[in-house]
Amino acid sequence: MNLSVVILAAGKGKRMVSELPKVLHPVGGKAMVEHVLETAAQLGAQQRVVVYGHGGEQVQAALAGQPVAWAEQAQQLGTGHAVAQALPQVGDDGTVLVLYGDVPLVRPETLIPLVEAAARRELGLLTVVLDDPIGYGRIVRDRVGHVRRIVEEKDASAQERHIREVNTGILAAPAGLLKKWLGNLNNDNVQGEYYLTDIIEMAGQDGIRVEAVAAPQPWEVEGVNNRRQLARLERLFQHRQADELMDRGATLLDPERVEVRGSLTTGKDVTIDVNVVFEGSVTLGDRVSIGPNCVIRNAEIGDDVEILAFSHVDGARVASGCEVGPYARLRPQAELHPKAKVGNFVEIKKAVVGEGSKVNHLTYIGDAEIGRDVNVGAGTITCNYDGANKHKTIIDDGAFIGSNSALVAPVRIGKNATVGAGSAIAREVPDGALGLTRAPQKIVQDWLRPRKKG
Ligand code: UD1
Ligand code: CA
Repeated sequence: MNLSVVILAAGKGKRMVSELPKVLHPVGGKAMVEHVLETAAQLGAQQRVVVYGHGGEQVQAALAGQPVAWAEQAQQLGTGHAVAQALPQVGDDGTVLVLYGDVPLVRPETLIPLVEAAARRELGLLTVVLDDPIGYGRIVRDRVGHVRRIVEEKDASAQERHIREVNTGILAAPAGLLKKWLGNLNNDNVQGEYYLTDIIEMAGQDGIRVEAVAAPQPWEVEGVNNRRQLARLERLFQHRQADELMDRGATLLDPERVEVRGSLTTGKDVTIDVNVVFEGSVTLGDRVSIGPNCVIRNAEIGDDVEILAFSHVDGARVASGCEVGPYARLRPQAELHPKAKVGNFVEIKKAVVGEGSKVNHLTYIGDAEIGRDVNVGAGTITCNYDGANKHKTIIDDGAFIGSNSALVAPVRIGKNATVGAGSAIAREVPDGALGLTRAPQKIVQDWLRPRKKG
């Protein structure tokens, strides 16, 4: 089947009060229009045409590199006019599905029946039944229940306004027929717009059946016009993701207080405490536990890892059995080998911490390679930056770094070597040796402290 998806994104979105075009506002960390493009891909669309207007360059820049064709709608003359701008790029034989850049949460499963109807040379229409239908186009059915037409709120009679089944705007039609119908639209209505909805009546006149499918949940077809609605959809989206995580076997201490802005893969018996934010692509192995108030971005976390409260993990790989935090910060290219331990107020950047090694307190490790079973004392700093270039620190297996040491890179601490506390090490400490730069301690007996004058 040849499916083209037309995505309307020409709206100004004035009520967002934003310099960012409406369809670029994110839900779950991803622009709304990208959600729609993803849905199109999941439906196996051969072609996606985005109809843009206001802020078109910004939308194009944001979607650069995606397989998208573009159609400009310079003036907003109505939804029918908008779809018509895209159709010259679409062949006559396939199916056209119309989606909206500001309706991000509709699921592919909900759209399949529409696409199937269009493939049978019917018109597939997605409707929804609302308690409060105000503002929407109403679905007018005849006595036997066939959909006859859609009447916009502003054009509707008092009686028609009582209808609670409304138009979502989402529909699928055979491309050739859609082109013909849109070519025959007029703007003879209260708003003086070319209404996409007028094609329903035209279908009837051509003997084309309208297959109206009701959306299973109203949130799927909810659109965004202002930031309150954006926040509402964000909550709905997060709720849906939290449910999915729990269905796949993760324990969420409070499903209302986990945020997933990207993709999160979880192993067996993962536990996630409250106020954890996941961003980008994150993988958690089996039995991982994440403490409260952590931010985890683009990370790979192995089995049996414990991440304690208030830790920040970004672009890091943490192998099985590690313990991180509380208050730890792993930055891009931090790599912890199995059973490593990184404790409170420790920052690790572009560095390997070898198997079983411990960096427990108040330390900066950057551009470094730490071997196995190394102990890095509190307050250790790798001085990796000379003001112009970055240099590397190597700490070999079994080394012991005394507290409050500065390791001035490039430098190597040998296997089983020791650095005495308080040292500034700028030359290699050979295997098994002690490196110590501490000034000798002086003792003055019976020392008299200064006294206050007068
Ligand atoms: C439209 C439907 C209405 C339906 C409602 C669902 C028509 C005539 N009416 O209402 O039956 O209940 O959606 O939300 O279709 N757009 C353009 N170019 C335009 C006009 C609109 O790209 O010239 C885009 C908007 O950016 C928006 C979408 O189309 O994403 C719908 O437009 P909007 O004005 O919000 O919907 P209504 O016309 O009020
Ligand atoms: Ca309108």
